[in-house]
Amino acid sequence: MSEDKPRIGVAMIGYAFMGRAHSQAWRNAHRFFDLPLEPHMAVLVGRDEQRATSAARQLGWDAVETDWRRAIERDDVDIVDICTPGDTHAEIAVAALEAGKHVLVEKPMANTVAEAETMAAAASAARGRGVRSMVGFTYRRVPAVRLAQQMVAEGRIGEVRQVRAQYLQDWLADADAPLSWRLDKEKAGSGALGDIGAHIIDLTQFVTGQRIAGVAGMLDTFVTERPVAESFSGLHGTGGTERGPVTVDDAAMFLGRLSSGAPAVFEATRFAWGRKNAIRIEVNGSTGSLAFDFEDMNVLHYYDATEPAGTAGFRRIIVTEPEHPYIEAWWPAGHGLGYEHGFVHQAVDLVRALGAGEDPTPSFEDGLHVQRVLDAIERSSAEHSTYTEIGD
Ligand SMILES: NC(=O)c1ccc[n+]([C@@H]2O[C@H](COP(=O)([O-])OP(=O)(O)OC[C@H]3O[C@@H](n4cnc5c(N)ncnc54)[C@H](O)[C@@H]3O)[C@@H](O)[C@H]2O)c1
Repeated sequence: MSEDKPRIGVAMIGYAFMGRAHSQAWRNAHRFFDLPLEPHMAVLVGRDEQRATSAARQLGWDAVETDWRRAIERDDVDIVDICTPGDTHAEIAVAALEAGKHVLVEKPMANTVAEAETMAAAASAARGRGVRSMVGFTYRRVPAVRLAQQMVAEGRIGEVRQVRAQYLQDWLADADAPLSWRLDKEKAGSGALGDIGAHIIDLTQFVTGQRIAGVAGMLDTFVTERPVAESFSGLHGTGGTERGPVTVDDAAMFLGRLSSGAPAVFEATRFAWGRKNAIRIEVNGSTGSLAFDFEDMNVLHYYDATEPAGTAGFRRIIVTEPEHPYIEAWWPAGHGLGYEHGFVHQAVDLVRALGAGEDPTPSFEDGLHVQRVLDAIERSSAEHSTYTEIGD
């Protein structure tokens, strides 16, 4: 499928949780999808040469650098893929854009509005030189989510009246789960709010086609001190006897108004025992409803209120038909997709946009808006949940 295609070189920075997911995507995107350019996994960046070399071998990267600055100078690198914690995003992304490299940066785009503004300005300047940028709000690329977005746009639920969106996990519910960079404000910017709340902000805006115009927030920290981690794998680690402070929120609740004035209610927590990765959205419109839960990610629920009441009911659409978004490249109907496919679709959409000379989405301006929503929620929470408009 990819024979004789020009190559596009990728440098990936960070090779842990997201690094593994992105590597899987770069390895497979052109093997399943017809792309205008073939991604070349040119270089993996990790600070420890021995560990990075072993990761590069395992994940399929051709070379290793121990400093991201060297990676963005390389002639065989066209895309810089940032899979590091939030405190590094702004510096790496701006430097890469200025060096003429396209950038894919993980979410949340930055740790502060000021950083996000700098990044959006750099992206805007780079765009004039044909250098493009994208934020990794991966859940947009789940076929059932994309189908929901299409159905809202087609008017299949009428006018959007209400949204409820949740992102529920439980990996911090154990008070002895150890500290990680995700619990350190300096590294992560915020807690559940930026880590997973950012996803439901993007998801809501993507599915409804509207922006969040104002919010009222309430943040809570349930466990203020935890064991310092001795080792980590993915989200889970082993703690020692030393303890340290948690400096971020554990749970974020907020109300929002969409640009149409429609109300939305949000909840992001890593303390919901039994909920492993329940990113959910339900949209109620004037003529129907749509509902999605990532824990059943191949399914979209649809209620059509124009049907006779006696036989109307939620329809369970299994989103694995060839006509569904992204599915044609994969398996026969009913042979479901998993977590990793969203990352493949992200790489596919980015490479297609670059091949077509177009800007991929979500853009750094979209990322900046999400950052402004996160910031407004924090300010609202500090002001007794006062309704706070999102500035431009
Ligand atoms: N899209 C999603 O669904 C999703 C899911 C999880 C995490 N994320 C985001 O991805 C980013 C990374 O999260 P993660 O879960 O992969 O974290 P992680 O802790 O698993 O991995 C971070 C990696 O970055 C490396 N690193 C840190 N600073 C570095 C530097 N200066 N130079 C080189 N490497 C450096 C670390 O050594 C580690 O390998 C964060 O922004 C996070 O919010 C997104």
